[in-house]
Amino acid sequence: MERVSTGIEELDKKLSGGYPVNKVTLVTGIAGSGKTIIGIHFIHKNCLEGKKCLLIATEETPEDILYQARIVGHDLRPYYENGQLVIENIFEDRSEVIEQTRYGFRPEILDLEIPNLFRSIREGTDCLVVDNIGTFALRVSTKKLRDQFDGLNYIVRKKGCTALLIMDESVHNMTHQLAEYSVYGSIHLLVKENSYLGIMERYMYILKMRSTPISPEMSVFEITSEGIKIHESGGESLA
Ligand SMILES: Nc1ncnc2c1ncn2[C@@H]1O[C@H](COP(=O)(O)OP(=O)(O)OP(=O)(O)O)[C@@H](O)[C@H]1O
Ligand SMILES: [Mg+2]
Repeated sequence: MERVSTGIEELDKKLSGGYPVNKVTLVTGIAGSGKTIIGIHFIHKNCLEGKKCLLIATEETPEDILYQARIVGHDLRPYYENGQLVIENIFEDRSEVIEQTRYGFRPEILDLEIPNLFRSIREGTDCLVVDNIGTFALRVSTKKLRDQFDGLNYIVRKKGCTALLIMDESVHNMTHQLAEYSVYGSIHLLVKENSYLGIMERYMYILKMRSTPISPEMSVFEITSEGIKIHESGGESLA
């Protein structure tokens, strides 16, 4: 199966080369666990290789994302400026509507359901990141959400792109983690205490990746001025 680099060398090795091409991979984790930075690595690496990337941002402005990318050593600004990277600014659209609705200027709300979001993906997009799809997941019933996630696989395949969907842990839990079953792959990030060392550490584990041999272990990683660094060994086994 063809792969697209994750932009993190150690993660590529764990995934037999990267995210499966034309498929949907889910990234979940608590606040501040590194979800957006995983997306930044993916976009940066693929922009570097000349691919077209689209980032749909629901919670941060393009400026915030460009700043975050720069301080983890993966400057996206040149690609944003030359149009190779498009940042769809749902954050500001959403805030504007909330503001206007509050004062009664415009009562309608944005049509932010998942299928609409995906239908509008630009032709020629190679890599797509949605950060955070949890914003949309809370708007529909559980049954409808499952159907929408199942439909995503079809739309992503038809559009010919490889998708990374970031979902915050609270919405993921509120929706009974059902997105997990529809997606092709799933990566979970967490921050917890290392009971031996008595310190807090960042962990990543690959919950599933279809058609890919993976081992059920949690890898320790750090976030540095050069981005995510996964430690070679010392992961905790889940078995
Ligand atoms: N250069 C750096 N060195 C060390 N840590 C950094 C650096 N840049 C960012 N961080 C840390 O990385 C953390 C994770 O960042 P990221 O924005 O990817 O988390 P997230 O899971 O997307 O959070 P949220 O749920 O709030 O969107 C930040 O909270 C920040 O403290
Ligand atoms: Mg984030």
